[in-house]
Amino acid sequence: MNPNIKAWLKTGSLAVRAVCFVHIIHTYVYEFTETRGESMLPTLAASNDYVHALKKYRDGKNCKMGDCIVAVKPSDPEHRVCKRITGMPGDVILVDPSMGAQFDRLPSDTDEIDEDESFKTYIKVPMGHVWVTGDNLSHSLDSRTYNSLPMGLIRGKIVAANDFNQPFWGGLKGNFWGFRKIGNSFVDED
Ligand SMILES: *[C@@H]1O[C@H](CO)[C@@H](O)[C@H](O)[C@H]1NC(C)=O
Repeated sequence: MNPNIKAWLKTGSLAVRAVCFVHIIHTYVYEFTETRGESMLPTLAASNDYVHALKKYRDGKNCKMGDCIVAVKPSDPEHRVCKRITGMPGDVILVDPSMGAQFDRLPSDTDEIDEDESFKTYIKVPMGHVWVTGDNLSHSLDSRTYNSLPMGLIRGKIVAANDFNQPFWGGLKGNFWGFRKIGNSFVDED
């Protein structure tokens, strides 16, 4: 074989392997993603805040009440959402009564929800699902809109974030571009 072609094939194969490696890391180990939107204020800034997410928690594995997670947006698989888990499978949730029941009922939920339209304020989170809300309740699209989130959509747990609105060093939120840990708001960790 022409040595040139051979060299190219070798480079190509290395490139493919590098891409696979990055993909595997991104899927199974770690993700660093930008977040946007006001829904997680004050925990996450509305723009230029990047979250560190661990993939060992994907599909909701070992996720707990109060954890921040990255998930595929149920209504739009192209987009991700950052939310906090505020209900575990089997929990009964009082949906914000002031909002009314805005979400579409899933066929499987029919027995879980009060049949009377005006009293559909309590929801039982089905198995394999969690209830998620943004920390900024008045500016968040979450389970109150799209109902319980299937755990299979959870891509990882947010453990820290870098706010690039902050200076490189010595910002208000933490040194090194606003680096801070994102903790669980419900149980005391460590
Ligand atoms: C929620 O978002 C709105 C709009 O950006 C903001 O004015 C408000 O301060 C936020 N609430 C919290 C608790 O940060």
